[in-house]
This record gives sequence, structure tokens and C-alpha cells, in this order.
Amino acid sequence: MILLTGGAGFIGGNFVLDWLANPGAEGVINLDKLTYAGNLATLASLENDPRHVFVHGDIGDRDLVKQLLAEHKPRAIINFAAESHVDRSIHGPSDFVQTNIVGTFNLLECAREYWNALEGDAKQQFRFHHVSTDEVYGSLSGTDPAFTENHPYEPNSPYSASKAASDHLVRAWFHTYGFPVVTTNCSNNYGPYHFPEKLIPLVILNALNSKPLPIYGDGQQVRDWLYVGDHCSAIREVLAKGKLGETYNIGGWNEKANLDVVKTICFILDQLKPRIDGKPYADQITFVKDRPGHDRRYAIDASKIERELGWRPAETFETGIRKTVQWYLDNPQWVDGVVSGSYRDWLQKQYH
Ligand code: NAD
Ligand code: DAU
Repeated sequence: MILLTGGAGFIGGNFVLDWLANPGAEGVINLDKLTYAGNLATLASLENDPRHVFVHGDIGDRDLVKQLLAEHKPRAIINFAAESHVDRSIHGPSDFVQTNIVGTFNLLECAREYWNALEGDAKQQFRFHHVSTDEVYGSLSGTDPAFTENHPYEPNSPYSASKAASDHLVRAWFHTYGFPVVTTNCSNNYGPYHFPEKLIPLVILNALNSKPLPIYGDGQQVRDWLYVGDHCSAIREVLAKGKLGETYNIGGWNEKANLDVVKTICFILDQLKPRIDGKPYADQITFVKDRPGHDRRYAIDASKIERELGWRPAETFETGIRKTVQWYLDNPQWVDGVVSGSYRDWLQKQYH
């Protein structure tokens, strides 16, 4: 089996679904705290699948993590669990320090103890895959070259600082203890099951609900967008073939200014679900106060993973964003569960 953390979130959830779509796949133990971002409705199709073992818990809970490792003897750990929203980190950084730094530390220590006791092939083959972000590299000007794996760490938000700290711990565990790690630093993801407080799902749903489409500042901040299915395939590739101790940048070669992303979504919605009054959705665009410390531009140079592991994204922004808008139109039940908050009912029923 493999042990995955944060598998009820956006990327982890997509990864579990993708992984188990392969009939021969190893089982998954999915450890997730079910914060506001964790949603078991994403995994509803796996309810009766014995290959998916869901465990409600915290990566910071040492006894629980130790017990899971002893019981299931995973051959790998993939750490997706994190507090992931920059805006939330500005309002309340404490959970970010706790989960992203202390939680990762705890996971590393439990995993190291487990790995130390392994022998032979099991020890040889074990690996700890840490999922991280391009935000650790800081902000680029319009003319700077894209981030390579050698770019200095210059995190600017409490979120990116906490992710940078976790990356450093992972690196140190390799160099100091020989603990077998790989780290991936990925650009902005989008796609199905994305929690609608991040830009792309927020804009799709606000547009459909006749609400303003909030653009921070001048909307000229640039992000490098990657379809989530491509992130999942990259992680599978790195897990299978990545060199221990290495980091791999993952990106979509899709740099877009926020305003252009929002206009593209409006344009697709105008085609797929025109407004009743016949006006364009772009009329709902509203410029609002900028995010404090807002990074201007991220761009990933993903040539190392292509050169060494043969991975390239399958989707362009144009194909991926169209699929994504269509997915939100086709899945009102998942959306309603999040918007109404009823996706949290499972927690209430199960644990209170
Ligand atoms: P998300 O916020 O959608 O999901 C995070 C998941 O982790 C949730 O299910 C949550 O319940 C769980 N979790 C939080 N704290 C936990 C804890 N202490 N113990 C166990 N589970 C906990 O995040 P996401 O967008 O799916 O991101 C997943 C990972 O990928 C994160 O590490 C993030 O930093 C990284 N990343 C995200 C993006 C992106 O664009 N979303 C890009 C690059 C890297
Ligand atoms: O770069 C990878 C990162 O991408 C991940 O590590 C993070 O976990 C993930 O949340 C994402 O961070 P961003 O801050 O880039 O994503 P967000 O969707 O919050 O914002 C995308 C851009 O859109 C950013 O420049 C801020 C802007 N924005 C966002 C919101 C929510 C707006 O203009 N208006 C909005 O309402």
C-alpha cells in the first residue's frame, strides 16, 4: 500500500481517484484531518472500494501515524496535507505553522523510525514524496527567467514561508539521515473538486450566481496554470522514477495574467451557459483591494522533469479550462454540498 496524507483535498483527492482508476493499483491509506478543505464527497465513488482506507486524523498525531505505519507497512508516503490558501495564511498563520512545518516534521520523524526498522528490498524501495509549491521561490519580474530547481528560496507569504520550511526539513532529513525523499514544487493547479475560494472555481461559481468576480489589484499578476490531472501524472512519474534527494519542478508552460484567466472563463461560460439577460459574464468583473504582499509573477521551468523523467503536461490551458468549466456545470451536487456547507455533515455524523 501507499500512505497518502491530505487525500480528501483538491489535489490529493484527484490523485486518489486517478491512482485507483488503474485496476491493478496498490491500495491507498488516506490520512486526512478534514479541515474546511477536506471533502469526502470527492471520494464518494470509492465508498465500497476496499483499496481505499480513509483515516480521519492529523499528520501531527505521532501515535496515530506510528500506528498506521506499523499496521499497513506502506512502501511509500506522499505528503499532500497542508494548509494551502495564501489569503487564509495572511489572516491566521498559526495553522500553517502547525500543519505545514510541525506536521511535516512529525511525519518525517515517524517515517524515519519506520524506515530504519525496514530491511532488504522494503528498505531499499521505500520513499517519502513531499508535495510542495513554486511559491517558495518568491516573485519574478516580467522579464526574469522561469524558476529552475536551483532558484533561491525567497518565500513572501506565511503560506509560502511555511512550505519553504517544510521543504528544508525534508532536504535535511535526506542529507543528515540518508532518509529517502523526493520533493516536487508545482505551479498553480486547477480542475475538478477545487474548493471554491481559490480564483478559478470562485470565478466560475460567482459568475453563475450573478455575483461580482473579484480581481485583486490590477489583475496583471501572472501564474503558471497546470491541470490537476497533469500534476497527478507528474507525481506518479516522480514516485516511480525520481532520484532520491532530488527536487523536480512541475509546471504547465501556461503563464497567464489573472485578468486574462477570468476573461477566458467568462468567454467559455458565455458559450456554454449564456446569461439570461444576454449580457457577457465579463460585466461582473470587479477590481478589489490587492492581497498584501501579492507576488507578481510565478513561472516554472519544467525542463528537468521532462529531460530526466520524460514527463510533459497533456493539457493546454485552453483544453484544461474548458474541461474544468464543464465539470462545474455538470456537478451541481458537489458544488451545492460545498456552498451550503453540507459536505461537513459527514464529520458531524461520524464524530460527534
Ligand atoms: P487543499 O487545501 O485543497 O487540501 C489539503 C488537504 O489536507 C485537506 O483535505 C485537509 O483536510 C488536509 N489537511 C490539512 N491539515 C492537515 C493535517 N494537519 N493532517 C492531515 N490532513 C490535513 O490543498 P491542495 O490544493 O489539494 O494542495 C495539496 C498540496 O499541494 C499542498 O501541500 C499544497 O501546498 C501543494 N500545492 C498546491 C497547489 C495548488 O495550486 N493547489 C500547487 C502546488 C502545490
Ligand atoms: O503557485 C502555487 C500555489 O497556487 C499553491 O501553492 C497554493 O496552494 C494555491 O492556493 C495557489 O496559490 P495562489 O495564491 O496563486 O492561488 P489563488 O487561487 O488564491 O489566487 C490565484 C491568483 O488570483 C492570485 O494572484 C490571487 C488572485 N486572486 C485570487 C482570488 C481568490 C484574485 O485576483 N481574486 C480572488 O478572489
